[in-house]
Amino acid sequence: MADKSATLTYDNKTIELPVLEGSVGPEVIDIRKLYGQTGAFTYDPGYKSTGSCESALTYIDGDEGILLHRGYPIGQLAEQSNFMEVSYLLLNGELPSKTELDDFSYTISRHTMLHEQLSTFYRGFRRDAHPMAIMCGVVGALSAFYHDSTDISDPEQRKIASHRLIAKMPTIAAMAYKYSVGQPFLYPDNSLSYTGNFLRMTFGVPAEQYEVVPAVEKAMDRIFILHADHEQNASTSTVRLAGSSGANPFACIAAGIACLWGPAHGSANEAALNMLREIGTPDKIPHYIERAKDKNDPFRLMGFGHRVYKNYDPRATVMQKTVREVFDALKVNDPLFETALRLEEMALSDDYFKEKKLFPNVDFYSGVILSAIGFPTTMFTALFALARTVGWVAQWNEMISDPGQVIGRPRQLYTGPTARDYVPVEKR
Ligand code: ACO
Repeated sequence: MADKSATLTYDNKTIELPVLEGSVGPEVIDIRKLYGQTGAFTYDPGYKSTGSCESALTYIDGDEGILLHRGYPIGQLAEQSNFMEVSYLLLNGELPSKTELDDFSYTISRHTMLHEQLSTFYRGFRRDAHPMAIMCGVVGALSAFYHDSTDISDPEQRKIASHRLIAKMPTIAAMAYKYSVGQPFLYPDNSLSYTGNFLRMTFGVPAEQYEVVPAVEKAMDRIFILHADHEQNASTSTVRLAGSSGANPFACIAAGIACLWGPAHGSANEAALNMLREIGTPDKIPHYIERAKDKNDPFRLMGFGHRVYKNYDPRATVMQKTVREVFDALKVNDPLFETALRLEEMALSDDYFKEKKLFPNVDFYSGVILSAIGFPTTMFTALFALARTVGWVAQWNEMISDPGQVIGRPRQLYTGPTARDYVPVEKR
């Protein structure tokens, strides 16, 4: 029994509910025995007050704008680390030694190729298919190709599946892009970094030597770090729920990709850039701010607001800085960045956004950078999925390794008809 408890009085009965304490952050009231003791469920659609699991991976304090991976602040990781190191950290709990990092990077590079037959799989899609549609299909199909890493009760197979997913995602995403533009697929080049290899597979062509621009490689790598994990968000919870039934990891990550695709989640980066393009010039901003505030207008400022952050999303801070670095390196000056800065400034000084604590989130600036690098908007969410795969996989592993893991099975507040007798069709 925990030291602290909460008392609940319900239906003339008083029960004590244990209060559990994490290493930091809000305490949780443990209601696991509530139904057995009272016959009542809790009700929390959207899980606004619900902790769904125990996790040691990522901590967010949304009021303070803090994001930590295994205790390390996202700003420090984005500035000083790299995506391979952050991936190791998320998977293993500690930063790697130099040898551990070299070994890990080497292992990942040895899994970057896709089964050759998968390239024929791509040809079954229409050329104008959304890359996320292709990602859902191809990642789900991996379970048909890698049977030797689908036994989730074997830690070694889980590790291999995790490495395969992290390693193959850039190849899968780059091939989705290549297919859409009708260019030949490029095989991975393991002499390049994880991120450099992805850029080459996406933008290189067989006829020419592709030169990775270091500033772009660094910016892309940082974008991957910023998207690597984010606690129990919708897609991560989807992966956990799918995995809780014992489904194989490839199927679970495909489920995560499906969830990420939604405009309220990972597709907001695509929607944010489309919105900036629609707004166009700063003089149109007031009109769109008014629309965002109008309850009768479905328009929202995309890339603004967050379920957890009621302060500036710390990832947006890094993202804004990265825009300037990429623009300098590529000598571009997209006027949409000025529009974005002005929109942020005007929204943050508006009472509606202040009162509702709506700040730019990670997606607000990422589209401007990705567009400058050369990605079409349809690829934005695919890049997010690529980067988030390590988080999904780490969360999935954490769940499967937990000896107390059970299938996730929420209940409901039923509002349909009560029991009634079937009426044959001729009597209706
Ligand atoms: N523009 C205008 N108003 C907004 C916005 C916005 N972007 N976001 C929230 N609001 C308003 C809502 O209308 C609501 O107003 P009300 O209290 O008068 O009804 C209030 O703020 C609270 O919003 P909810 O939607 O209830 O908050 P929730 O936590 O459920 O949603 C969400 C968070 C989905 C991110 C929301 O802010 C949103 O739709 N933002 C735009 C999409 C976006 O950028 N998503 C990316 C999230 S980050 C990520 O997934 C990586």
